[in-house]
Amino acid sequence: MLRTIVHFPNPVLRAKTEEVTVFDDELKNLISDMYETMEDADGCGLAAPQIGLSKRLAVIEYNGEKLTIINPEISNRVGSSVREEGCLSFPGVFEKVEAPDKITLTYQTETGEKITEDIEGFLARIVCHETDHLFGRMIIDRVPPLKRTLIKKRLARKD
Ligand code: NI
Repeated sequence: MLRTIVHFPNPVLRAKTEEVTVFDDELKNLISDMYETMEDADGCGLAAPQIGLSKRLAVIEYNGEKLTIINPEISNRVGSSVREEGCLSFPGVFEKVEAPDKITLTYQTETGEKITEDIEGFLARIVCHETDHLFGRMIIDRVPPLKRTLIKKRLARKD
């Protein structure tokens, strides 16, 4: 089922998220809805707050591979590069932002299994972007103040 994607400055994007503790069919259905919603919007990542849910989970699809990250924690960030990013909650906005080249990620799968792995390249960037969403942090917080003002004005005009 397609969910509605909320746009900045909807306050749910800044709300505190809760850890996922129940790994049941309801969670599997939610994850399936999130993939469907992300694919429909042509995105490569979608975090639960972006569909109005304050839960710590996100889905990612990159290079044909799916990665569901539940309760993710980034423990190590190595290197840094600047590339353009977009976000489904900021329609039409693409900004060059800094992100690490390599990270160590600990997360749980949809069955609750805990995994720690090193991730690099653009996938590391997406994981950071989606994990940021789970802590109320977004692309607008990663650009210079003048850009921030312009983005706010632009999105305010659309509503
Ligand atoms: Ni985003």
